[in-house]
Amino acid sequence: MKKISLTGIKPTGTLHIGNYFGAIKPALELAKEYDARYFIADYHALNTVKERAELSALIRQVAAGWLASGLDPEKVIFYRQSSVPETFELTTALMAFTAKGLMNRAHAYKAAVQDNIEKGDDPDAGINMGLYTYPVLMAADIILFDSDVVPVGKDQVQHVEMAQDIARTINFNYKADILKIPQAAVQESVAVVPGLDGRKMSKSYGNTIPLFAPEQELRRLIMRIVTNSQAVEEPKDPETSQVYLLYKLFATPEEREALAARYRRGGMGWGEAKEELFRVANRELTPIRNRFNEIIADSKGLDETLARGAEKARRIASQTVSRLRKAIGINF
Ligand code: ADP
Ligand code: TRP
Repeated sequence: MKKISLTGIKPTGTLHIGNYFGAIKPALELAKEYDARYFIADYHALNTVKERAELSALIRQVAAGWLASGLDPEKVIFYRQSSVPETFELTTALMAFTAKGLMNRAHAYKAAVQDNIEKGDDPDAGINMGLYTYPVLMAADIILFDSDVVPVGKDQVQHVEMAQDIARTINFNYKADILKIPQAAVQESVAVVPGLDGRKMSKSYGNTIPLFAPEQELRRLIMRIVTNSQAVEEPKDPETSQVYLLYKLFATPEEREALAARYRRGGMGWGEAKEELFRVANRELTPIRNRFNEIIADSKGLDETLARGAEKARRIASQTVSRLRKAIGINF
C-alpha cells in the first residue's frame, strides 16, 4: 500500500511562480511516489474573499493552475474542499477536542491580533471565527483522508502540528488508533522564491510574477526586478542577485554554471542577465500558460474533472467519518 500525500491551496489570489516552485511542483513530485489527494481549499478562502464573482473565478483559476502544471486527475484525486461535506462534519467533531488555547497560539490569528493592537484597534477587530478556527478546518482536511504526509511551506507547519495534536487527543480519549497522525513534509531544498522587490514573493506584497503572465507581461515584470547600481564591467556575486536566484529555478545545471561564471567575470550588465532570465522563464512557462488558457476556456470540462474528483474523495471521506461516528458513540 502506498502512503498518502495530501495538500490544499487556498484560492485567494492569482497563482505566482512562488506558489509554483514552493508548493505545486514539489507536491506533483511527491505524487509520483504517494497516493496523492490535492484540493482547492475554497471554504478557507471564504474567510477573506467575500466577493462572489471573484471567489468563483479564483477557484477555477487555481484548479486550472494545478492541471496546467501537470496534475493528472486520473492519478491524483483532485477536488474542491466544498464538494466534500464530510469535511464539515469532521470539523464539528474535532472542535469538541480542540482546546481554545490551542487556537489562541496560531500564528495567523496572533499576527492579526498584534496588527490590531499596533493600530490601536480592538484586538478582535476584523477577525472572524473562520480565521480563528482555521486550523481545525485544515486538520479536518488532512485527517479525513488518512494522510501520511502533508507537503507545505514552513508557514503551515504549525497547522499540521495542530492537526497531530487534535488527532492524538481523540485517539487518547478513545484508547484506539482511530485517526492517522500526519507529518508535514517541508521541502528544505526549495528556498523562498524572491519577489520583484527582493522580499519573499507574495500576493500580499504585490511583488509577484503571475504563473500565467502573457509573454509581454512576463518580460515587463522581469525588467522591473530590483538590482543594485554595480556597473556593467564589475564582477558580480550571483548568489546575492534576485535575478540569478530566479534564473536558478528555471535553468539547467549547465546554464546555471555558465551564467554564474559570467556574473563573476564581470562585463555583463543587469539588462543582459534579465534577458537570460526571461529566456529560460518563458521556455518553462509557455507550455503551462498555453495549457492554462485551454483549460480555463473549457469551464464545463474543468467542472466535470472536479466533480469526478469529488466523487472519489467522498468515497474515502465517508468511510473516515463513519469510523469516527462509531468510535465516539454517535452511531451504534
Ligand atoms: P502568498 O504568500 O502569495 O499569499 P500563499 O500563502 O497562498 O501565497 O501560499 C500558497 C503556497 O505557496 C504555500 O504552500 C506557500 O508555502 C507557497 N509559497 C508562497 N509564496 C512562496 C514563495 N515566495 N516561495 C516559496 N513558496 C511560496
Ligand atoms: N492553509 C493552507 C495554506 O494557506 C491551505 C490548506 C488548507 C491546506 N487546508 C489544507 C494545506 C490541508 C495542506 C493541507 O497554504
